[in-house]
Amino acid sequence: MSESKVKVKRVLFFDSGVGGLSVLNAVRQINPSIESYYLFDNECFPYGDKSEQFIVDRVDSLLESACHKFDLSAIVVACNTASTVALPELRDNIKIPIVGVVPAIKPAAKLSKNKIVGLLATPGTISRKYTQDLIENFASDCQIIKVGNANLAVIAEKRLSTGIVDTKAILKIVEPFLNKDETKRPDTVVLGCTHYPFVKDILTNLLPNVRLVDSGEAIGRRVKDVIKDASFIYTNEKQDRVFYTGNLKNIDDRLTMVRTFGFRQLEKFELLN
Ligand code: DGL
Repeated sequence: MSESKVKVKRVLFFDSGVGGLSVLNAVRQINPSIESYYLFDNECFPYGDKSEQFIVDRVDSLLESACHKFDLSAIVVACNTASTVALPELRDNIKIPIVGVVPAIKPAAKLSKNKIVGLLATPGTISRKYTQDLIENFASDCQIIKVGNANLAVIAEKRLSTGIVDTKAILKIVEPFLNKDETKRPDTVVLGCTHYPFVKDILTNLLPNVRLVDSGEAIGRRVKDVIKDASFIYTNEKQDRVFYTGNLKNIDDRLTMVRTFGFRQLEKFELLN
């Protein structure tokens, strides 16, 4: 290996949109030396109400293409809507380690005192068998109030890209958690979509005294574990990179935003046939 090369553990983060950057943040805190690649499927965003088969096929072809284009140490599917349905197929077809992000139902059930837990996620994630199994296996002692909404990810995506946020629309979405009888409200709500940490301040205001739980920190620890034995990648220069599919609107705003995450430019990603 040439002297001028540097060796890195390169992790590819994948999401339909920019929500997975919340996971990237959490993973970097625990794994500060990784090189991060971030791929988002702007062309098909949002995934929230798309069919399971569509998501499995789409994510599989994107990630298989990514593996042909790049040397990677690991992949994080930083999307609950995709992870809750596509992980088995991805792990069959892709031979590098894949970490999925799924709703933090187990920790939420442990943390809840009144054993009423809210689950806020996309309609896809809410309806998955995977999610139902998580509830049965880890939260059978809790009442689960499920709110499936396709628009909250869109609201969060817009906020992150333009700074504009529709607080009234968010209030309407979380109304099912605001029972007039306070004893019937959840004391803990799972943020089951990686976009939602980007509206966490607003959710905190709208849901006072409610603990909001996401999967970020657990994923950071999982990645640490996985990359311990993953292969090093030799490269000329350590450089984080971000890729998008389709045509990006507000490209200047998007560029300003991704720069706050340490990326230099936005690169278009083409699927391989
Ligand atoms: N960020 C994705 C998730 O964690 C979904 C957003 C969407 O495409 O609807 O579920």
